[in-house]
Amino acid sequence: MTIAYRNEEMLGMVNPETGLVDRRIFSEQDIYEMELERIFARAWNFMCHDSQIPNPGDFFQTVIGEDRVICVRDNDGMPQVLVNTCRHRGNAICRADEGHATSFMCTYHGWTYDLKGALVGVPGFKEVYHEELDRENWGLIKAAKVDSYHGFIFATMDPEAPELDDYLGEVGQISLDQLASRGDIEIIGGIQKYTIQCNWKLATDNVWDFYHPQISHSSASMARRTPGFNRYDQPHLVMLGEYGHANAGPEVTEESRVRSLARGQDMSWRDEPRAKEALGPVGSRVQNHPNIFPNCWIAFPGEGQISMRMPKGPSTTEIWWFTFNDPATPLNKRALETFGPAGLLEQDDGENWGESTRGMKGVISKRYPINYSMGLGHGEVIDDETGPPHIESTINENPQLWLYRAWSEWMAADSWSQLRESHSPVPEDRV
Ligand code: FES
Ligand code: FE
Repeated sequence: MTIAYRNEEMLGMVNPETGLVDRRIFSEQDIYEMELERIFARAWNFMCHDSQIPNPGDFFQTVIGEDRVICVRDNDGMPQVLVNTCRHRGNAICRADEGHATSFMCTYHGWTYDLKGALVGVPGFKEVYHEELDRENWGLIKAAKVDSYHGFIFATMDPEAPELDDYLGEVGQISLDQLASRGDIEIIGGIQKYTIQCNWKLATDNVWDFYHPQISHSSASMARRTPGFNRYDQPHLVMLGEYGHANAGPEVTEESRVRSLARGQDMSWRDEPRAKEALGPVGSRVQNHPNIFPNCWIAFPGEGQISMRMPKGPSTTEIWWFTFNDPATPLNKRALETFGPAGLLEQDDGENWGESTRGMKGVISKRYPINYSMGLGHGEVIDDETGPPHIESTINENPQLWLYRAWSEWMAADSWSQLRESHSPVPEDRV
């Protein structure tokens, strides 16, 4: 592909010293296309949960960047990730969002693929291809690596990518454990999907934005009878992970437990030995909001949902909500009242992200950076034996700036091996 910006220019889009970020990264088509190439086609992307495809032949359709992929359990019980495009003329070989199949037959001319993606049927193989088509070389395009962590299936298209456990690191693993350690979780059938006219990164960085609820969600807080939601002086804890992962949010305190319970969210699962062991002393103290780079938000682990922010162009994002069974929290509190198209919070947030995206496009506006400097220089990193390096502070923008710093490093690397060498380690002293 044409690389519109040199690697040094990409690094210059984010200034970790001042907290300023160039608006062009939220608006330019060329940068967006580089993201598809250098981030989504390279990263480990969340596909689905084991419970969505329990039996051989069960499949779930999702995307990696803008490529449609099918995550299907093969007859050996292993998840396979197949790109949903026929090798003959590119047609989709699967039109359903999820279901069960014994093979995938293209509806254009009938090429048929098995559950591992091998081309097993070619109509007229003898008569029109004269038995000369090398079927072994015309199977579906497949993910380079597929793996799962505690039932969460991920895939990467890049054979050079590190193994999933290494990619997730301690912070990514604790983040998934916040859901996995709650017991035998299962997805509730049906994924909520809708489109917001915003850049995917604005939706992503908002997961750690505890500065906005006091303003953006003040009327929602009143309606949900949760006044005082996220005070400015509330203690916060931030864990930064390699490659851009972060897990941050208000500290779990007796007061926050009582307030969460008042809005129907029971945190007593944290007291279970399994949860304590999986999260560790530091992980147990963070209330919520991990994002696994690039776009997998484990939303309010207390509410049992995962949200994907699927890029659909520089100004368009499709939001997907996976909701897990969770006897501790009523479904209406999670999948309906809070987020999703009917959620009180998502409607407030979506408007902000859309307007911010519009504000990134003007030729005048684009000359001026946006500001992620809150708390910069005050983020003393505590690195001890209790868990991953972490920052204890009030509300700050350290995790957002960490995301953009990582983003610029991904965008400035020509390959995984270069990214491995050049990406910033988690800071040892101060952010
Ligand atoms: Fe699939 Fe022709 S496009 S068989
Ligand atoms: Fe919000």
